[in-house]
Amino acid sequence: MKNYKRLLKYMRPYMKQFALAVICIIMAAAANLYLPWIIKDMIDKVLADKDMQMLYLICGGIVVVFLLRGIFFYGQSYLVSYIGQKVIIDVREVMFRKFQRMPMAYFDRHQTGETMSYITNDVQAIQSALVDQLIEMVTEGSILIGSIVFMFVLDWKLSLLTLIVIPLVGQAMKVFGRKLKRNGTVIQERLADITSLLQESISSIRVVKSFVREQYEIDRFIRQNNLNFQAAMKNVQLTSLLTPSVEFLAAISVTVIIWFGGYEVINGYMTAGALVAFLTYAVNLANPVKRLSRVYGNLQRAMAAVDRVFAVIDLKETIQDKPDAKVLPETKGSVVFDHVSFGYKEGQLALKDVSLEAKPGQMIAFVGPSGAGKSTIANLIPRFYEVTEGAIRIDGFDIRDVTVASLREQIGIVPQETMLFSTTVRENIRYGRLEATDEEVEEAARAANADVFIRELPKGYDTEIGERGMNLSGGQRQRMAIARAILKNPRILILDEATSALDTESEKIVQAALDRLMVGRTSFVIAHRLSTIFAADQIYVIDGGQVLEQGTHEELLKKGGLYSHLYSIQFGGEKT
Ligand SMILES: Nc1ncnc2c1ncn2[C@@H]1O[C@H](COP(=O)(O)OP(=O)(O)O)[C@@H](O)[C@H]1O
Ligand SMILES: [Mg+2]
Repeated sequence: MKNYKRLLKYMRPYMKQFALAVICIIMAAAANLYLPWIIKDMIDKVLADKDMQMLYLICGGIVVVFLLRGIFFYGQSYLVSYIGQKVIIDVREVMFRKFQRMPMAYFDRHQTGETMSYITNDVQAIQSALVDQLIEMVTEGSILIGSIVFMFVLDWKLSLLTLIVIPLVGQAMKVFGRKLKRNGTVIQERLADITSLLQESISSIRVVKSFVREQYEIDRFIRQNNLNFQAAMKNVQLTSLLTPSVEFLAAISVTVIIWFGGYEVINGYMTAGALVAFLTYAVNLANPVKRLSRVYGNLQRAMAAVDRVFAVIDLKETIQDKPDAKVLPETKGSVVFDHVSFGYKEGQLALKDVSLEAKPGQMIAFVGPSGAGKSTIANLIPRFYEVTEGAIRIDGFDIRDVTVASLREQIGIVPQETMLFSTTVRENIRYGRLEATDEEVEEAARAANADVFIRELPKGYDTEIGERGMNLSGGQRQRMAIARAILKNPRILILDEATSALDTESEKIVQAALDRLMVGRTSFVIAHRLSTIFAADQIYVIDGGQVLEQGTHEELLKKGGLYSHLYSIQFGGEKT
């Protein structure tokens, strides 16, 4: 319930609407309570005493009451839904902001589908918790309390007798509620499992098809789907049991009223009208108890989602600006790794005591077997991850002492595979610098050897790119990435196997664009093909997260270590 209070905090901006909504709800509920009094007057005064004036009063009363009830009902639905929708978009925004700010390490550990499910399904559950359940709770709560008060006014002895059964019902609710909450969590988790399975299997459909694993995926899906079914049915079983149990208890209390009330009317302690009115209240009482118990179950289930939402909102952003973080001034581009160690997981180092230095404008290359830690070094420069030991300095500033934004603004990255957004070619390039003019975008594209192919697209720069840039080739996508980087114009550049997914032909074009991009910038180049790094100012040979050798191409060849070995593999042993 602590989280429900927190959820209510999100309603604070809508307090005025909320107050009005509660008034509407209570007034609409009060209209329900008025009916049994009409019945009482009808029996005791109109039917028994033949009071004509009372008859007109009652008829007029009914019309007015129902008219008002309609108006208040409209007000309650409209206002509460308004608040619910507002809160939902607020919470969604908070969550989206959170995910945008979460460090890379979070996304390494969590699947995309899971994250999406939080923002869509779980936030939707908040809507249910706030809107539907809140209306029900206040409505039925008012009816319940109002009915009990009126019942005591009518006959307190009979009321006491009736209310003996209420604690019994309450106890039953508690037991079921606990089970429902536990089961609600299971259902949501199963649903999230299905979403991530869907996400994974559909986005990897190429892999699935190339391995002819359609049936395998279908079987996997059937298993997940069945698990969801079992959890859902468990829930159905619980909710289906809940209603008849509560109703049975209510029926017993009605029997008690008829027996004792009938006895009182026969002995003249109570009028017939009062008994009928009492009975009506008592029957109405069964409804709010029943509905409140359902609200309770629904709330428990919604709260499981609310708990998850707040768990996300409370996630720690491990990579944050220090309170006194400075803005990194425009860098000259000197980058120093000072005895840096780093592990993705605790106690498991991916980099051990790496020291290196890049002077402004230099080209630094990393070579080494796959899994050596080359990309890890590259990931640390924009502070995607925090070093475990040692420090990285840019122009003498420890990168932990400057704002993340000012650091990343000055670093351009061209990864092995480029993600494009499903918008136009122009907007995709402009992602590098949002305020760039159309001319600047096209100029960047020209420098990236991309202008020609873009102009050949159906709508040129205004061609919409399909999801993940599906309708562009790898080489075209890389050139878009280079154009982005050119537009960003960073002092420091990271090229992480930017050409390794390309065929020889497009590699040449992309490499030419990269060479142009690197001029005048400090560049870190991870290359699978040594020919692209012969000219590097320093080459670091990485293996097992450590620097094995370092030097220029010639120096390393002379050493006769791992580099010259790699070289002889790639160039068939011939020496230059
Ligand atoms: N996001 C990650 N989470 C956990 N471990 C990782 C992650 N990325 C890489 N690693 C591990 O760190 C080591 C170095 O990987 P990486 O730097 O990608 O190698 P390279 O780029 O040289 O091929 C490998 O053992 C790899 O499994
Ligand atoms: Mg790599």
